[in-house]
Amino acid sequence: MAKNTLTITDNRNGATYEVPIQNDTVRAMDLRQIKEHSDDFGMMSYDPAFKNTASTTSRITLIDGARGVLQYRGYSIEELAAKSSFLEVAHLLISGELPNTDELGEFQHQITHHTMVHENIREFIDAFRYDAHPMGILVSTVAALSTFYPDAKEVSDPASRRLQMHRLIAKMPTLAAYAYRHRRGLPYIYPDNDLSYAGNLLNMLFKMTEVRYEPNPTVAKALDVLFILHADHEQNCSTSSMRAVGSSRADPFSATAAACAALYGPLHGGANEAVVRMLAEIGSVSNIPSYLERVKQGEVRLMGFGHRVYKNYDPRAKVIKSLAYDVFSELGQNPLIDIAVELEGKALDDPYFAERKLYPNVDFYSGLIYQSMNLPMDIFPVLFAIGRTPGWLAQWEEMLTDAEQKIARPRQVYVGKRDRSYVPIDQR
Ligand code: CMC
Repeated sequence: MAKNTLTITDNRNGATYEVPIQNDTVRAMDLRQIKEHSDDFGMMSYDPAFKNTASTTSRITLIDGARGVLQYRGYSIEELAAKSSFLEVAHLLISGELPNTDELGEFQHQITHHTMVHENIREFIDAFRYDAHPMGILVSTVAALSTFYPDAKEVSDPASRRLQMHRLIAKMPTLAAYAYRHRRGLPYIYPDNDLSYAGNLLNMLFKMTEVRYEPNPTVAKALDVLFILHADHEQNCSTSSMRAVGSSRADPFSATAAACAALYGPLHGGANEAVVRMLAEIGSVSNIPSYLERVKQGEVRLMGFGHRVYKNYDPRAKVIKSLAYDVFSELGQNPLIDIAVELEGKALDDPYFAERKLYPNVDFYSGLIYQSMNLPMDIFPVLFAIGRTPGWLAQWEEMLTDAEQKIARPRQVYVGKRDRSYVPIDQR
C-alpha cells in the first residue's frame, strides 16, 4: 500500500531518511536530521522570498492560483461580493462565520462606537508636511494609536484582542480621511455613525459645507464591494509582516502599522496607484504596442499584472472590471478605461505574458474606479489598507492562538567572509 512519506537519499554518504508527508508538505525541521557528519548542524531548506514554503496552516482564506479561485472561510469571493456587506465579511473573517441579524447589529454597533480618534491624533496629523503621502501618515498614525491604548498589549486576552480589532476596523477610515483632508488643506470631518461603513468614509472624505452629507449609493456600494475584494489574501507580504511583528507579541496597532508599511510598496498595495500612473503615461491606445515592447525588454513592468499565486485570471479583477462600468455609468467614463481594456487584451494575446501566466490582478482596474470617485492617486493604497484590516487582524489572532507558532525567525545561509583580522583605521 502507498505510504504517505518521502524517502530521501543523501548521495554524499548514502544515508536514507523517511519523512512524513502531511497536506502535500514535508516539515523543514525533518530535514535537520540529514547530516554528512554527526557534528553537522543538519540540513535546512533554502527558499528566498518564501516561494515554496508554507509558514502556517490557516482556516481563513483559500486561494487556488491555478484555477483562479478565492474563498474566505469557504465562501466564494464572487458570491460575497454580490450578496454580502463589508462588515459581514469582516465578521466572517475574524469570527469564522457570517453573522446572523443580531450579531451583525451588535458588530455594527461596536464598529460605529469606535470610529472617533483622540484629538491628539488630529494634532499629530497636522504636524505632517502639507504634501505628505497619506500612506506615510497612515503608517505613523496607526502606530501612534498603540500609545493611546496601552491595554492593547494584553494580546493573550481574547476580550482585549476583540476590542482592539473593533477599534482598528472602526478607526482606519477616520485616519484615512484625515490623511486625505490634511493633504487638501481641508478641515477634518468627524464620523457620522448613522451612515454605512463606506458611506461614512465618503462623508469624512468629501463633506464640505452641507449640513448633512448624503453619500451617492452607487459609489458607497462600489466602495463596500472593493473593501470586500481586498479583505484578505492569505500569506501575502503585508499579512506576513503582520504575523511576523505580532509573533513577538507586539500590540496589534504596532503590527498593523508594519502591515501598512509593507502594503505601501509598489509591488503590493501601491500597485493600484502605479497602474493609473502607467495608463496616464501610455496616454493613448496607439502607444500600447511600444509600451508592451518596453515591458518585454525588461525596461518596465506591466503594473497590475502578474501574481505570485494566481497563474490564471485573478477572480477579484473580474468583479472589479464589471464594477468599474457600474461606477462609470453613474459618474461618467474614466478615459483611461479604454487604454486599460486594450492593454489587457493585447497583453493576454502576447506569448510573453501567456508563457509566464501573467494576468490582470486586483490592482489593474481598482485605481480607475477610485479615480472616477475623484480620489487622488496617493490615497488608493490607503483604501486598500482599510479593506485589508479585518484580514490582517484575523490572521494575527490565528497566529497568536496557533500552538505551533512561535516568534518568526527565519534562518539564513551565510556566504560572507569569515574569521578576518581587524585592521586599524590608519592601515586600511
Ligand atoms: N510585467 C512584466 N513582467 C512580469 C510582471 C509584470 N507585471 N510580473 C512578472 N513578470 C515576469 C518576470 O519578469 C519574470 O520573467 P522571467 O521569468 O523572464 O524573469 C516572470 O514574469 C516571473 O515573475 P516574478 O517576478 O518571478 O514573479 P513574482 O511572483 O516574484 O512577482 C509580482 C509577483 C506581483 C510582484 C509581479 O508579478 C509584479 O511585479 N507585478 C506588478 C506589480 C503588481 O501589479 N503588484 C500587485 C500584486 S496583486 C495585489 C497585491 O498583492 O498587492
